Amino acid sequence: MEQTMLDQFYKKINKLKTEKNAVILAHYYQRPEIQDIADYVGDSLGLARKAAQSEADVIVFCGVHFMAESAAILSPDKLVLLPEKEAGCPMADMANAQDLREMKSKYPEAAVVSYVNTTAAVKAESYICCTSSNAVKVINSLPGFKQVIFTPDRNLGQYVASQCDKEIILWEGYCNTHDRVTPEDIISKKDHYPQAEVVVHPECRPEVVALSDYTGSTAGMLKYIKDSDRSQFIIGTEQGLLHALKKQNPAKEMILASKKLICPNMKLTTLPKIVESLTTMRPIITVEKEIARKAYLALDRMLKI
Ligand code: 13P
Ligand code: SF4
Repeated sequence: MEQTMLDQFYKKINKLKTEKNAVILAHYYQRPEIQDIADYVGDSLGLARKAAQSEADVIVFCGVHFMAESAAILSPDKLVLLPEKEAGCPMADMANAQDLREMKSKYPEAAVVSYVNTTAAVKAESYICCTSSNAVKVINSLPGFKQVIFTPDRNLGQYVASQCDKEIILWEGYCNTHDRVTPEDIISKKDHYPQAEVVVHPECRPEVVALSDYTGSTAGMLKYIKDSDRSQFIIGTEQGLLHALKKQNPAKEMILASKKLICPNMKLTTLPKIVESLTTMRPIITVEKEIARKAYLALDRMLKI
């Protein structure tokens, strides 16, 4: 989009934001122009914290459905808008409450830890939530439990299992963006850029994680690269993070590990959709009261850690 057009959208959005007392929260996987208009850009944990603390009347969530749902649960007195209502997370849809209840009955002694990338109904069946930046810390905060049912990401589950001494019962879910990266992708990039450090998200397969110099959440990757004295990095996460990485580190070179690292759902939100959403105050994300009450407990336990 050319600059004059961008400026027009920014002007409209800023005007609507003031009129409606709205705040725009965006995930690092959003399009660059969305990250640039957001009041706050963050990883899943940072966004959940911002949603819980926000003093605005309206939260415009530029991300995917489960994130907006978490914001609605954490801020029940606010109106939460998801500009593109079809923006879902295929991994979150790989777990449902009924299957989780069956799993719980098979392992009655286990604590259920659910990645925030889950529906509110699955969170409501969970003891505590986690994100990729605090998963190990959350699991280590459960001293009374030897067994943990971890939903829905089997890759993040295997990563945490390697970092703690509890038995982790895995769910068969995965992110079909991160899971597409192969060890061969990393090896071939390493052949071209032998000096580069490999920095990946724990939603990648364990074989990919094993080849990395650092594994962490999007915010963790940003911090690691900012603090590193290397000048080239092979990035194993959704390509949207490159925008923030390049802004923060103009002298460093970022190499995406694979062309396949695009989450189509994260790209559905556009500037015209934000204008439409703030004009019509739709689509509103709501969560059924009893589910929201139970899911709140799991999210709140995580935020207290
Ligand atoms: P983080 O931003 O917490 O690393 O999560 C990645 C993700 O896939 C969100 O959908
Ligand atoms: Fe879901 Fe993966 Fe997209 Fe994140 S990147 S929203 S986990 S599909």
